[in-house]
Amino acid sequence: MTRKSYWALMIVSVMTLFLLSVGAIYAASAPVEIKMASPYEHKKSIAVFTHQKHVVDYRITCGQCHHDDKGQPLTNLKDGDPVKKCFDCHNKPGELKGKEAKGLADKELRAYHANAVHDNCVGCHKKYNKENKDKGKSAPQKCEECHPKKTQE
Ligand code: HEC
Ligand code: HEC
Ligand code: HEC
Ligand code: HEC
Repeated sequence: MTRKSYWALMIVSVMTLFLLSVGAIYAASAPVEIKMASPYEHKKSIAVFTHQKHVVDYRITCGQCHHDDKGQPLTNLKDGDPVKKCFDCHNKPGELKGKEAKGLADKELRAYHANAVHDNCVGCHKKYNKENKDKGKSAPQKCEECHPKKTQE
């Protein structure tokens, strides 16, 4: 190997290592916003979730949304820990409601992705709005507040 190509190789290696480490840091920390697309066809516009605001501004702890394969809250979750997508476990596509949902236990319904996500998001928002009624605060409960009309996309 010539001296020149040796240096070229060194520079390329160092740059690669640098980019890899930046990539790792980026992937490890909790994202600011998540467009929650899932691998099935969406009827509504895809909801955008303000992850950082929920954690930093609304002070909601990780374990209120993330849990393990038994449904136990991940209370010790830290920035950098790997986190599974809701769909990895609540993996039936879309939302089950109406006639088909009748008589099913909450747990069976939550096998459906949107039922589980709605339970979490809308469940907390409803509770929050009830508790803060007189403070003029509100978290979105209506469909269009999270799924804006498709023409706006
Ligand atoms: C607090 C926010 C929020 C509200 C309010 C809400 N949703 Fe959702 N919904 C979500 C999220 C997040 C998902 C999962 C990501 C996605 O599919 O957009 C979802 C998924 C869905 C899905 C499955 C995906 C699809 O598009 O087919 C349907 C259907 C749905 N919602 C319908 C509704 C309807 C109808 C209402 C009103 C009764 C509603 N949602 C209210 C956040 C919300
Ligand atoms: C209010 C609910 C909520 C809170 C609080 C919350 N998360 Fe999340 N987090 C989510 C949702 C929803 C997703 C998107 C999951 C999906 O797309 O299925 C997510 C995604 C993530 C991801 C990315 C996973 C991926 O593959 O894209 C990481 C990392 C993460 N959260 C870490 C954390 C950590 C660390 C905390 C606490 C400091 C935290 N979260 C608090 C709801 C929450
Ligand atoms: C590793 C698998 C796994 C992942 C990932 C997962 N869940 Fe769950 N979840 C479960 C199990 C198991 C239960 C307990 C059975 C039940 O009550 O449905 C549960 C329960 C729930 C419940 C009812 C209990 C409660 O805490 O209120 C909600 C709501 C829920 N999950 C929403 C979500 C959301 C939203 C995400 C993504 C941020 C998510 N889950 C990610 C496995 C998982
Ligand atoms: C444990 C409680 C909790 C959970 C779970 C939760 N939220 Fe929220 N959310 C809040 C609070 C508190 C606010 C702020 C209300 C206010 O402004 O006073 C909020 C506000 C919002 C807003 C409007 C302001 C903004 O940040 O964009 C959206 C949109 C929203 N949430 C979407 C979601 C979605 C989607 C999910 C589920 C993936 C979710 N939330 C889960 C508590 C929660």
